[in-house]
Amino acid sequence: MSSPISKSPSLAAFLQQLRCLGQPPRPVTSTACAPPRPRKVPLCPLMERGEVQNATALPGPTNWPLLGSLLEILWKGGLKKQHDALAEYHKKYGQIFRMKLGSFDSVHLGSPYLLEALYRTESAYPQRLEIKPWKAYRDYRKEGYGLLILEGEDWQRVRSAFQKKLMKPVEIMKLDNKINEVLADFMGRIDELCDERGHIEDLYSELNKWSFESKLSSQPCSFDFASDSEDKTWLCGQTANSLMWILYNLSRNPHVQQKLLQEIQSVLPETQMPRAEDLRNMPYLKACLKESMRLTPSVPFTTRTLDKAMVLGEYALPKGTVLMLNTQVLGSNEENFEDSSQFRPERWLQEQKKINPFAHLPFGVGKRMCIGRRLAELQLHLALCWIVRKYDVVATDNEPVEMLHLGLLVPSRELPIAFCQR
Ligand code: HEM
Repeated sequence: MSSPISKSPSLAAFLQQLRCLGQPPRPVTSTACAPPRPRKVPLCPLMERGEVQNATALPGPTNWPLLGSLLEILWKGGLKKQHDALAEYHKKYGQIFRMKLGSFDSVHLGSPYLLEALYRTESAYPQRLEIKPWKAYRDYRKEGYGLLILEGEDWQRVRSAFQKKLMKPVEIMKLDNKINEVLADFMGRIDELCDERGHIEDLYSELNKWSFESKLSSQPCSFDFASDSEDKTWLCGQTANSLMWILYNLSRNPHVQQKLLQEIQSVLPETQMPRAEDLRNMPYLKACLKESMRLTPSVPFTTRTLDKAMVLGEYALPKGTVLMLNTQVLGSNEENFEDSSQFRPERWLQEQKKINPFAHLPFGVGKRMCIGRRLAELQLHLALCWIVRKYDVVATDNEPVEMLHLGLLVPSRELPIAFCQR
């Protein structure tokens, strides 16, 4: 499998952040930004009657001089395994904790209630953590910024222009034909690439090519908000990676795959292409994707930089605080999902009323949530129809496959799956 690390600007940017000791994000303890008086900041509704503490009281791993908790993170497997370390910290310190890595100071959120509280008080132009190297790279190449890094009114202008097309189900449903055309070719490509045992070498790179072509063909302008080929590569990587994980999950759960096949066959006559409207009658297919994105999400967290002081949990956080929204941790927490390590799509059909919607945020949250969500979901749903109808996706071994954080959460080794024609 070609390593996605080289294509992962977010990790490179993160490491760069660690190196930029001279220009840290504003620490939560900054005296230039004293904690606000509790009554003036919006309160988390859950804590209205609780006592508000200063952010310096936040629990968290030991903050050593200069290094913060960097050594501990390295000791626990390094940045590649930081998602596991974060899950462990949430267990130990609770739903909100603070951590420093070098001079990079951040507050971590790992509870649906805190994320809901954040969402309810979000400002007009929410900001993600500023990634200086991304900006510097675009400045150097004299390129405009894409939606991923734009801020303030500029962000809102571009966002509203594309939102109308990309977030409206009726608009996105019109793209099914184009997506199907690419998928029909891709089925032929799978046949060509499979060796005699149905194994494909470098599946990740093939899925990436599919994802890229699929997006280009779906709409010539659907990418104009992404600033250059690097943004586009990253955005396509997310869809390809999500498809890879769901194929893996289906290979390890043949009974789920069988049930999915039955649903597809009951809705679609054998020779008929899947249409976007057919997906309305495929709740199990949608549940399979949701479950895969809960158990094995592509994106482990997103970030926000507070543009105003606020109280979250019982802590007063000053303007400038960097929040890490640990969305992957939510999916693996037993408090949110019973038998959380099991791949059980039925939970989305039977227990949906019990599942807190803020416990499942693979596309982020609020005004800055993924604008490509509906397009990505349509591509993935249609791809599953084509693939599962034509192939039995079989596990070729039962050894564990771990998640590694290389910008995205990718499988730790070449996927042990084979495509066997039905
Ligand atoms: C399964 C595939 C995908 C996943 C899991 C995913 C996930 C995410 C996440 C977690 C965010 C951050 C949201 C936040 O901060 O709240 C994001 C942002 C974004 N995504 Fe996606 N994404 C996917 C596919 C796509 C595709 C196909 C496109 C383009 C067509 C796209 C375009 C964007 C853009 C432009 C942003 C920034 C939005 C903004 O800041 O206003 N994504 N995505």
